[in-house]
Amino acid sequence: MGFVGRTAFITGAGNGIGKDMAKHIVANGGNVIIADVDEAAGRAAATEIGADRVLAVHCDVADQNSVESAVKAGAERFGGLDILVNNAGLHLTKWNVPITTLDEDAWKLILGVNVIGIVNCARAARPFLAEGKSPAIVSLSSITGYLSNTVYGITKLAVRGLTVGLASEFAPDGIRVNAIAPGAIASENALAELAENDVINQMINNYQLIHRGGTTTDIVQAMEFLCTDSASFITGQTLQVSGGFPLYI
Ligand SMILES: NC(=O)c1ccc[n+]([C@@H]2O[C@H](COP(=O)([O-])OP(=O)(O)OC[C@H]3O[C@@H](n4cnc5c(N)ncnc54)[C@H](O)[C@@H]3O)[C@@H](O)[C@H]2O)c1
Repeated sequence: MGFVGRTAFITGAGNGIGKDMAKHIVANGGNVIIADVDEAAGRAAATEIGADRVLAVHCDVADQNSVESAVKAGAERFGGLDILVNNAGLHLTKWNVPITTLDEDAWKLILGVNVIGIVNCARAARPFLAEGKSPAIVSLSSITGYLSNTVYGITKLAVRGLTVGLASEFAPDGIRVNAIAPGAIASENALAELAENDVINQMINNYQLIHRGGTTTDIVQAMEFLCTDSASFITGQTLQVSGGFPLYI
């Protein structure tokens, strides 16, 4: 089963990787709910994609009520849900800092979005997915979740743990749960920040085994694999899509 006639709820799809996932699913016959806290970005992405198979809804993943309303609105519009992509995340320089340098409020903020956000979405989507076609959840971890030496990395380590736990918890409903751990990916926001410090070139030349930049397409293709029946025997896994980083160090 591919995307034809299936419906995906994608958080943070107003920009970057999530937006390109939305475009790809719609282009391949699926329906998409773009669920972003940045309503203007979500609406603009829906307009850009331009099909009647896309709906933009306001959703703050850190807020359980907001998630429940968004999931309900999306499922009502398309008659159910088959795929959940937990893509929304706080990331980049501000959060890639040593563990004890952020105060409690900042820690609560990033845990709310990157970790509890996934719990909120999984909980709200479960009853719809349980009735869905080849239901699958994919969450965005990060290669930093293997290094675990920054605040951001710790939240993405937690995403790997949630993937194992939710795979087991949701298996009775036939829902597969996997994650992707991207390396440096040239989404617009990441590129703007990482290019500034030449981080991407350093990654490509010094740390990756495959010496080219990672693209949003690399992540879209991994998502497609994990959400479709090519991966029907795979659950609880985190797939590194990072050009071999950090195996080299
Ligand atoms: N770009 C990379 O190099 C890279 C590498 C590893 C992992 N990732 C992960 O991939 C995901 C997407 O990355 P990207 O580069 O496309 O990011 P991005 O910054 O371009 O987009 C993130 C989106 O999430 C939305 N968002 C933020 N907080 C939210 C909330 N509380 N509720 C709902 N939406 C919210 C933002 O409005 C934005 O549209 C993130 O989880 C990120 O951590 C990215």
